[in-house]
Amino acid sequence: STKAIVLVGGDTRGTRFRPLSLDTPKILFPIAGKPLLGHILDNLILLPSLTEIILIGFYDKAVFEGFISDYNAKFQLEERNIEIKYLKEFKALGTAGGLYHYRKEILKGGPDEFFVVHGDVITGFPFTEIYEFYQNLKANKKNVEAILFGVKINNYEYFKVLNNSTDRHSFGTIVSADTKVVHYVEKPEQKISNIINGGIYLFDNKLFKRLSNAKITKINIANDVSHPELVDEDVISLEQDVLQKLPDDGTTYVYEYKGFWKQIKTPADALIGNELYLENLFQKRLVPEKAIKLTAESGAENGITIVPPVYISPSAKIAENTRIGPYVAIGNNVSVETGSRISNSIILRDSTIGAHSVILNSILSNNCTIGSWTRIEGTGLDSKKIAESIESQANIIGIKGTGNITILGSNTEVAEDSYILNSYILPNKSIKFDVRYEIIM
Ligand code: GDD
Ligand code: GTP
Repeated sequence: STKAIVLVGGDTRGTRFRPLSLDTPKILFPIAGKPLLGHILDNLILLPSLTEIILIGFYDKAVFEGFISDYNAKFQLEERNIEIKYLKEFKALGTAGGLYHYRKEILKGGPDEFFVVHGDVITGFPFTEIYEFYQNLKANKKNVEAILFGVKINNYEYFKVLNNSTDRHSFGTIVSADTKVVHYVEKPEQKISNIINGGIYLFDNKLFKRLSNAKITKINIANDVSHPELVDEDVISLEQDVLQKLPDDGTTYVYEYKGFWKQIKTPADALIGNELYLENLFQKRLVPEKAIKLTAESGAENGITIVPPVYISPSAKIAENTRIGPYVAIGNNVSVETGSRISNSIILRDSTIGAHSVILNSILSNNCTIGSWTRIEGTGLDSKKIAESIESQANIIGIKGTGNITILGSNTEVAEDSYILNSYILPNKSIKFDVRYEIIM
């Protein structure tokens, strides 16, 4: 059997995601109508051998209660006997400290292998394919204990531009020969390979022996008075303390992936993620029924013009003479009044968009009220560049700060006839004036 562990991180790490993370932890932020974490679970469940999903992080337990009970109910409906659990770290233990700390819990029931998944990436999550790749290697009598999910980058120069990266880049790098990993380097100074660590791993039980060894090494260093830096023995890094040593035994392989992939670190990333997911879910017809009806064809129906791909919650109310899309996700109980236009935006639940308003390149958190004849805008992400890279089959990677967007925190009220451009408004504000390039605290 297989277990999956999702590293969900915690509060202190979410700072880059402000102001959105003020109401919703990043991992539960809805992208294309579904929480980031939901996209992961919906792909994990496709794996027949899966028995348990363990979320490890340092958020309060209460944060995940609603999500977990929703998904337990959903899995029950699908007649899958999969347990979902949240295990809380007492502080940030690093990418492997929680795995070590909760090893007994994870090993309970004697699973054969484990997926470890970063909660802050979006991709096609090909868990079943990775699993089959692993089983095939074993069937061919290969000695294999780990599979790394390697994202192949076609155009490295382009990738660097997208990352605002000068020398050191922000990803782990995999060097392989015929899919066998010969080197793993965490965030190297220079380009050493065009396969990066996409934040998904499949390990067998030997992982826990390696974690124990890493822990012992940590304790020794922490107790070594001659060691120049202070070392916290509780914190274990999967990348530095485990992955970098893994290839020495010749038992690590890379599953190469050429599809879409992106980290979600900033709110602008969420907007690009929304675009990527809608594009891909739309192509795969994975959107909910009502959304399919709306997204499948462009054109007007009941005076509503839809430019696909869009996701619209079945409980949203869309008035006539509106134009929605492309790349729009509209949450539960949102009301869009007559004559409004929305594109490249995420509107979370319970918001109202007044008549004849325009929402462009923006994220509206829960329960915002936008007056009539109002414009909420960002100058936007470079979606032409994104389109070009999809065209050339390059992956979409870490596009940071390339676009300017507007974000409204929850319960924002914007008076009629206002204009907001490239600004962040923190929750519970009432805006009665124009705002440009500002952060309203
Ligand atoms: N539970 C827990 N505890 N999770 C954590 C902690 C922690 O202390 N620290 C980070 N995480 C989670 C994050 O929420 C995220 O899902 C994942 O671990 C990795 O986050 P970072 O540690 O911030 O690393 P990174 O994103 O800069 O780089 C890592 O991911 C890249 C792929 O997205 C590295 O593994 C790179 O090599 C890799 O390319
Ligand atoms: P071992 O005792 O190492 O076999 O693992 P265990 O899972 O039984 O760990 P235990 O709960 O005994 O915790 C070990 C140490 O880590 C203690 O000093 C705890 O205070 C600390 N600790 C680790 N994780 C947590 C946590 O989530 N909450 C709290 N309160 N303490 C933790």
